[in-house]
Amino acid sequence: MQISILPSLLAADLGCLRTEIARVAASGADALHLDIMDGHFVPNLSFSPDTSALCRKALPAGFPINTHLMMTNPDQYGARFAERGSTTVQFHLELRDRLDVRALAAQLHSLNVRVGLALNPDTPAEAALPFLDSADEILCMTVFPGYGGQAFIERVLPKITQLRTAAPALDIMVDGGVNNETAEAAAAAGANAFVAGSFLFKQADMAAAVAELRRRCEAAFCRSLR
Ligand code: DX5
Ligand code: ZN
Repeated sequence: MQISILPSLLAADLGCLRTEIARVAASGADALHLDIMDGHFVPNLSFSPDTSALCRKALPAGFPINTHLMMTNPDQYGARFAERGSTTVQFHLELRDRLDVRALAAQLHSLNVRVGLALNPDTPAEAALPFLDSADEILCMTVFPGYGGQAFIERVLPKITQLRTAAPALDIMVDGGVNNETAEAAAAAGANAFVAGSFLFKQADMAAAVAELRRRCEAAFCRSLR
């Protein structure tokens, strides 16, 4: 199974966004992670569909943009991100009682984007199980969403293993507080995709950091299969 590393633009120096996007493209990372916050689902604001378009223009053709919608109405915005260059759209399953998850996933698939279903740290794996056939990936939040730079919540690890057992072929991504050590723990639990914001952007040599993170995750993920 492929290991993916996704730098989160939230931790970039926003004063030189184009240069920061170029840094990600040159780092050997697999995709750019774009965090969208609405000030309602989470207590913060961040980027917009236009940021996705800007990233699309600044990145090499075909470089994936993984957009994480932390918003209460992803059904009204998912298509806008798809039309502005996002290649995966993730939305949160805490909304499952008032959102038609399957309909939104089908709409996004019809726009040729991958679908990610996101779970906050306190949301159990069971929330995702009925929808696994609608998803290309599951995003396990390892912090409460809203801010970068928080500490990794270890009690999410058993949920990752539970999801890996239920969905052996699905991409399982972790997001929040990821560094070399926490990524290894998540990979050992069954995660194969790793979002890292502050850890990667603070590095003088992002490419070396991506390579080292990938090496550790590959080794830990392989050990988890034995
Ligand atoms: C948190 C965001 C994360 C964030 C991760 O609300 O969803 O993607 O950028 O940042 P770090 O890696 O700094 O915890
Ligand atoms: Zn995120």
